Amino acid sequence: MLEQIIPLVREAGDIVLSARDIWSHTHEKTSAADLVTEYDLAVENFLKEKLPPLVPGSVFFGEEEAENADPTRGWAFIVDPIDGTTNFVRGLKQSAVSVALACDGAVECAVVYDPFKEELFSARRGGGAFCNGAPIHVSERPLAQGVFGMGTAIYRREYLEPTMRVTEQLFRRSCDFRRLGAASLDLCDVACGRLELFFEYSLCPWDHAAAGLIVTEAGGFVSTLEGDPLSLSDRCSVWASNRVNRDLLRELEV
Ligand code: IPD
Ligand code: CA
Ligand code: CA
Repeated sequence: MLEQIIPLVREAGDIVLSARDIWSHTHEKTSAADLVTEYDLAVENFLKEKLPPLVPGSVFFGEEEAENADPTRGWAFIVDPIDGTTNFVRGLKQSAVSVALACDGAVECAVVYDPFKEELFSARRGGGAFCNGAPIHVSERPLAQGVFGMGTAIYRREYLEPTMRVTEQLFRRSCDFRRLGAASLDLCDVACGRLELFFEYSLCPWDHAAAGLIVTEAGGFVSTLEGDPLSLSDRCSVWASNRVNRDLLRELEV
């Protein structure tokens, strides 16, 4: 199945790269911080047409126009057409197309494609994680020699205080941190050992569904900040780490 999904995700990436004059194709959804471009919609429409026929009976759960479907029952494609839309609009070249295929609430196949770096991350449950076909692994660095990524839960400003509290605690124990602006790529950066850990207080299923499997297949750990499994049906917090920093979560005041 991955072999059939990957070429479609690459084609979706070509739509992202074809974008011109993005600001004039951008609209506010709920606020100036919550944007959608005509390219987000074009990628989603393309994948919505192409992916479900690969798995008869599957539902399509995309960010921009989720079917009124439960992604935790039967087969479901969980799709973020452009993760990192603010980066995309601003020409920051840190965005990805994210596709997960889940069965009864468990992600089976995952693809996250950064068309700007031409990096395609993929995983199959039990089959390891890859970047452009080469196996990837989380790092073995403790946070004291590490860098972490974080997200600011931009659509849930009520999480500002705990976000800053956790950032401060981790920053005091680490070399530095990054806020790169595309959660799926932050998670893939943990998976391939560029970051030691990542957290964000509120993400949607399409932000983490694919990259979460990529992290675990790369030998890392993902959970909510409360230590529960990630939700594929609702917003939840996300914590991802390599093996050595797994227990750090218990030491933090979250
Ligand atoms: C957002 C990005 C961002 C994260 C937000 C997400 P979008 O996704 O992943 O890094 O901080 O919480 O919503 O809106 O660009 O698809
Ligand atoms: Ca997203
Ligand atoms: Ca998006």
